[in-house]
Amino acid sequence: MKKKTLQFLAGCLLVFGTACYYDTEIEEDLIPPPEDEITYTEDVQPIISRYNCTQCHNGLEPAPDLREESTPDSLFPDYVVPGDGAGSVFYQRLPGNGNHPNVGINLSNSEIDLIEAWIDRGALE
Ligand code: HEC
Repeated sequence: MKKKTLQFLAGCLLVFGTACYYDTEIEEDLIPPPEDEITYTEDVQPIISRYNCTQCHNGLEPAPDLREESTPDSLFPDYVVPGDGAGSVFYQRLPGNGNHPNVGINLSNSEIDLIEAWIDRGALE
């Protein structure tokens, strides 16, 4: 291969490599450091509002009731097991996490990770 071609390929690798690196950084950014609390009110409720989950989850069918005045109480004990994000139905069936009916909503990976971390760190109000 010509030297120019090699330089071009190396350049591409650098650009794409950097892009991937920064993606990962941004994804992890939503989760506060371990010494900080994650609360439903501050961290999870804004996600529920952003996607307007209550257009369906409004206290009747389907469960869970995701109205602001009902949460997070309505999630215990069936949907959220404090300390066990991966084992909690709420996490497992979040839209975008593979087990929710297709409603045209997909939470980002970082939002899904943040909700898992909220449960892992005790599912505080
Ligand atoms: C267009 C209506 C609609 C919207 C919007 C919607 N959902 Fe759902 N959701 C459903 C339906 C229907 C089910 C299936 C209930 C079942 O399996 O019995 C469901 C199931 C679930 C379940 C599992 C319930 C269970 O008993 O296993 C969770 C958790 C959930 N939704 C969370 C959310 C969240 C969080 C949002 C917003 C990001 C959301 N949903 C937005 C219709 C919706």
